[in-house]
Amino acid sequence: MLRLISADLKKDKIETLAVPVCEDKNIHSDASVAAIIRKAKRLKEFNGKKDQTITLYDLPETTAHRVVLRGLGKAAELDAETLRAFAGKAVKDCIQKDLTALWLAAPDKCPAKTPLSSIVTAMMEGACLGNHRFDRYRRKKEKKPLKSMVFVTTPPTVRKLKSTVSRVSKICQGTTLARDWISMPSNDKTPEQLTRMIVQQAKKQGLKTRVLQEKQLQQEKFGALLAVAAGSRSKPSLVILEHRVAGAKKSVALVGKGVTFDSGGLNIKTGGSMADMKSDMSGAAAVAATLITAARLKTKVNLTGIIPIVENMPSGTAIRPGDIVYSYAGKSIEIGNTDAEGRLILIDAMAYAIKKFKPQLLVDLATLTGACVVALGEKIAGVFSHDDKLAAAITAAGMTTHERCWPMPLPEDYKELLKSDFADLNNISSTRWGGAITAALFLSEFVGDTRWAHIDIAGPAYGKKESAYCGPGGTGFGVRLLTELLEKI
Ligand code: BES
Ligand code: MN
Ligand code: ZN
Repeated sequence: MLRLISADLKKDKIETLAVPVCEDKNIHSDASVAAIIRKAKRLKEFNGKKDQTITLYDLPETTAHRVVLRGLGKAAELDAETLRAFAGKAVKDCIQKDLTALWLAAPDKCPAKTPLSSIVTAMMEGACLGNHRFDRYRRKKEKKPLKSMVFVTTPPTVRKLKSTVSRVSKICQGTTLARDWISMPSNDKTPEQLTRMIVQQAKKQGLKTRVLQEKQLQQEKFGALLAVAAGSRSKPSLVILEHRVAGAKKSVALVGKGVTFDSGGLNIKTGGSMADMKSDMSGAAAVAATLITAARLKTKVNLTGIIPIVENMPSGTAIRPGDIVYSYAGKSIEIGNTDAEGRLILIDAMAYAIKKFKPQLLVDLATLTGACVVALGEKIAGVFSHDDKLAAAITAAGMTTHERCWPMPLPEDYKELLKSDFADLNNISSTRWGGAITAALFLSEFVGDTRWAHIDIAGPAYGKKESAYCGPGGTGFGVRLLTELLEKI
């Protein structure tokens, strides 16, 4: 539970208070908080340098039993992400101490660079997301999320940001829903099971849902999608989620890669590269969770989610290198490598989205290539679009939510690399270099003149190590980003 209130720290019943502290400037107008900070800074071990912490007990300045101060560094460098991380760490710290509630003092005298509303929003996000734990497979839940998180600020800020509390809660719930799906092991999220879980959550929020099952996929000739699914005992599906708003002027389709496990197929992955492939449905999770969030926020855009769900496995029924299949759009594709499966399911979903829904804008999200991780590392997604304005809108949304995106090129002449000797296209490039680009170019062959962007989230979708406001596992990357994008375009 999240609350935003103005409070008297000398009267209200408080167990734990977290206070963010800059090393060179006081950013709190509350007299009690300012006095506590002065006291802490008189101690040798604390001066507000980044991530320094000190806990003070039973202070006369407040009824709080303990005050945890944490350094933020220099005030001029303070940004929303620093406060998001501050709140996440403060919450995680309390969880480790088996506490159940936390009060956080929101700064209200920050340098002009970041507006107060972004600071408070970011803090609430960090706390909400930091309070999420994926522990459904532990028999004994040793650590429990906090039951209550209270943000303390001035009365005008409380009035101004009244609606923000429920908004942030909904967006973070969407993000943690995606995280849970991503972290769940593949033996519990076969395509059938993931399909069911998504439809169930979507229905609960009043979204219109439709599932194309294997038989319909065969009838409607989703040849590329079916080719990927052929090796698995589990049946593929195409999930369609619709959020409709009366009088909406914009229509957007989101497509998300849903490979519940990517073994590579007959071109089987080797060494450690198969390890985290349960996360190969992160695009699907983000798209489904974004639609669910849009329904809860009543976002004023006609939004359609198209989610192809398959498992990529080797077996006697699997597709082979050299096989040629026909995609939904009709183009023939030579399977150069069965491990380049994401693009195969995406082109069928994208062609279907365009044919059936004619969206003004199409965005696909996919853990598509290891090459994108090589290019941008594990924390930044690659954005590919012929439309520079759209790419800029996506990177701007990512700056706001700190889901960083970087624009990547779609060079026309590289299309050469996707030529096949026998079919219209090969699903892999003839060179090993520039794999994220050739994958995106492959997708671009199926979007016609629809305004389109592809976001390769292979790096940031999953984290082996925990971070300030995320545990190990799925990050939910894309949910806050797309939600922000939908409100800005
Ligand atoms: N799911 C992988 C991409 C991936 C790699 C995601 C690492 C997350 C972390 C994708 O299906 C894949 O296997 N791509 C191949 C493409 C190659 C065969 C052209 C790759 O990146 O090696
Ligand atoms: Mn693969
Ligand atoms: Zn994959």
